[in-house]
This record gives sequence, C-alpha cells and structure tokens, in this order.
Amino acid sequence: PVPVDELITSLCATVPDYPKPGITFKDLTPVFADGTAFRAVVDALVEPFKGQFDAVAGVEARGFLLAAAAAYATGTGVVTVRKAGKLPREVYSEDYALEYGNATLELHTTDLARGSRVLILDDVLATGGTLGAAARLFERCGVHVSGVGVVMELGELRGRSALAGHRVRSLLRL
Ligand code: PRP
Ligand code: MG
Repeated sequence: PVPVDELITSLCATVPDYPKPGITFKDLTPVFADGTAFRAVVDALVEPFKGQFDAVAGVEARGFLLAAAAAYATGTGVVTVRKAGKLPREVYSEDYALEYGNATLELHTTDLARGSRVLILDDVLATGGTLGAAARLFERCGVHVSGVGVVMELGELRGRSALAGHRVRSLLRL
C-alpha cells in the first residue's frame, strides 16, 4: 500500500492567494473525498493511541469528519468542540488568537465524564491556537487528553509549542 504521507501529498490541493493574496492554502478536501486515502488517514491517526481513549473529539468544522470516522472505527463515542454560540447547554469557553482578532471554542461541561480520556482530531495544525484551546476545554472538564492528531502540520513546530505536554501525531509536516 502507498504510505499515508504520500497519499496526502499526492491528493492535497495547493491554492495560491487564498483566502487572500500572498497566502498559499493547503486544501485537504480531495484527501477526504478519496476512499482509500480517507481510511488510511483515519487509521493512522488512531493507531498510536489505540486503547488509550474513551471518546474522540472533533474541532468544528473539518475535525468533525475525522472524529466521527475514528470513533466509529474504534467503537468509542464522539464529541463536538464547537465555535461559540452553537451548543445548547452549559459550556466552557476558551478564546484563542487568530491572525486578526480572536475566536472562541466551546464544549459542553458534561459531555464526557471526569476522569475519562479523549483523543482530539483536526485537519491542520498551524499556530496551534485552535487545538490548544480545545485541549484546555477538556482539561477544565477533568478529562484526560490522550493525544492530539492532525492530518497536516504547517511550519516549524510552532503549533506543537502551543500543545506542550501533549502527545501530537501529525501525518505530514510541511
Ligand atoms: C483551520 C483548520 C484548523 C485551524 C488551524 O480552521 O481547520 O482547525 O484553522 O489553525 P491554528 O493551528 O493556527 O489554530 P478554521 O478556523 O479555518 O475553521 P474551519 O475548520 O471551520 O474551516
Ligand atoms: Mg478548523
């Protein structure tokens, strides 16, 4: 079989000047759309953490796809970490920095039991602001973060420093 990093490299689309001039966007939608690649990606994200989590969390929006597949594949539950204002019950909120301004992620305080273990998945790790905020949400709930998995990691360990103390698995580093 083709190694997963080669599948990602060959299918990932590079979009110049998106979302604005000077930015080169890495679009993973063709990787998700390919059945062989999607299964290989999900299996590879789960593999280092097998048996070490009770639920998989996906970060809105693209992380949802990975988390649902990983949870189904491993017989675990799935949890949504959402953008602000989307969840109906009591939430914890964590702010994080965007290139311009701030954003907020939220998690129901009682979706997972204290002492349970979660694997957090998303498509891309860049500054680590998003996944750092997601990890803090689970820590506030008393949930152990067993690991963080991403399809693609951009830049030179910038994102990993925002996730210090966590096990991070990325399938491709650019
Ligand atoms: C993108 C990407 C990651 C995040 C990575 O999401 O899907 O979640 O940015 O960037 P960071 O490491 O610098 O935080 P985006 O905020 O564009 O939202 P979306 O997934 O809903 O499209
Ligand atoms: Mg995202």
